Parts: sequence; structure tokens; C-alpha cells
Amino acid sequence: MATTNVATKKRRAWTTSVFIKQLMAISGFVFVLFLLFHAYGNLKMFLGQEAYDHYAEWLKVDAFYPIFPKGGFIWVFRAAMLLMLVIHLFAAAYTWKRSRRARRSRYVVKKSVTDAYAAQTMRMSGVIIFLLFVFHILHFTTGTIRTGFTIDATPYERMVASFQSPLLVIVYLLFVGCACIHVSHGFWSMFQTLGWVRPSTRSLMVVLSGIVGAVIFVMFMAPPIAIAAGFIS
Ligand code: HEM
Repeated sequence: MATTNVATKKRRAWTTSVFIKQLMAISGFVFVLFLLFHAYGNLKMFLGQEAYDHYAEWLKVDAFYPIFPKGGFIWVFRAAMLLMLVIHLFAAAYTWKRSRRARRSRYVVKKSVTDAYAAQTMRMSGVIIFLLFVFHILHFTTGTIRTGFTIDATPYERMVASFQSPLLVIVYLLFVGCACIHVSHGFWSMFQTLGWVRPSTRSLMVVLSGIVGAVIFVMFMAPPIAIAAGFIS
């Protein structure tokens, strides 16, 4: 009887942790889609001020009108992102608590050194992304932190003024770098959760996860570097 109870408990804990991993993977995947969309949108900086500011205005006012009322889409998008963030943070906290409890238990198989390193990297990059994300919103969205631009500056002018400063290029390099490392590790974990990592596919999955992070990194960093180098002014 006692053995059956233990077995049921173990099965339930395993099912819950698989479910939590799925929540983490789904919310993470939504973030990756957002990052691709955002980085692609930022590339419009290369098309000039009118194109970029028009795109920014479209997103904030006209996007998907009349499916949404004018200015409505951005709020639906923000609410969806907030929900994904809550799910992602909840799943991360659950996994962290569980692995701490497991470390204290005598019965649990020890994690491999690479898994422990990956988990630590995810937590550290997650905290840095969160802090720099708060800075990013105060900087470009609300304009609370102004770096060489005035409150009435357009999104294009904000970008051009900001990336004259090498320090800000470095801050964004750190922000985007951490986001991309996080995404690459996240993809790797997602492939594992999906059961796609086998000895025969391991190298392919490593390369695929790396490519996703690298593509997002290059797309995001191209405009700041072009501005700093004087190609966009
Ligand atoms: C070099 C990297 C990046 C640049 C130059 C950049 C630029 C911008 C700009 C200019 C805006 C304001 C657009 C406007 O007000 O019209 C913005 C908004 C935003 N960015 Fe970024 N971004 C970068 C990276 C990121 C990353 C890595 C994330 C997520 C981790 C992110 C998340 C957001 C979000 C959530 C918004 C606010 C959208 C809203 O609710 O209005 N950005 N970004």
C-alpha cells in the first residue's frame, strides 16, 4: 500500500514537472516570435526616418484596425505579453524550487554538470534580461530615461540620439546578448522536452538552438551598430 502511494506521488510529481516544462516552452516560444517580430521591425531603421516612424505609429494606432479599435491592438499585445511573463516566471520559480528540494533529497539522481551550468546560466541571464528590460521600457517606450533626446522625439530620433553613445551600445549589447543566450538555451531545453535530443540528433539540435540565438542577435544589433558607425543618422 505504502509502495503504491509513493509510486502515485512520484508519477504525479513527474506529470506536473512535464506540464510546467511545457508551460515554460510555450511561453518562451511566444517570446521568441515577439523578438523576431520586434527585431525585424527595428530593421526598418535602414529604410529611413519616415518608414520607421510610420511603422511605429502603425503598431501603436492602426494595427489590425478595424478588427481592433484604433490603438487597441497594442494593449491586447501588452496584456498577452504580461500573461506570458507571469507564466514563464511561475514555471521558472517552480522548477528552481523543485531542483533545490531535489538537491537536498538523498534519493535523487544528481544532475549532470552541463545541466546544472545551463540552469544557472538561465537564471542569471533571466535576471539581467528582466532588469535591462525595465530600463528598456523606461528608455524607449515611456521616455522616462532620456539619453540625448527630448520627450517629443519620434522613435527614430530616440534611436539615433541614443546610439551615438558607445555606453548605450554596450548596454544594449549586454541586453540582447543575454536575451539570445537565454533563447538558445531555452530552445535546447524545449527540444529536450519534446524528446528530439537523441544521440543521432544531438549535434543538429545544438546547431539549431545556436542559430536561433545568433539570428536574433544580428537582427537586433544591426541598427545600433549602424547608428554608432554613422551609417544611419
Ligand atoms: C538593440 C535592441 C533593441 C532595440 C534597439 C529596441 C528598440 C525599441 C524601441 C525603439 C521601442 C519603442 C517603440 C515605440 O515606442 O514606438 C521598443 C519597445 C519595446 N521593446 Fe525593444 N528594442 C530592443 C531589444 C528588445 C528586447 C531584447 C526586448 C525583449 C526582451 C524588447 C522588448 C520591447 C518591448 C516589450 C517594447 C514595448 C512595446 C510596447 O508595449 O510599446 N526590446 N524597443
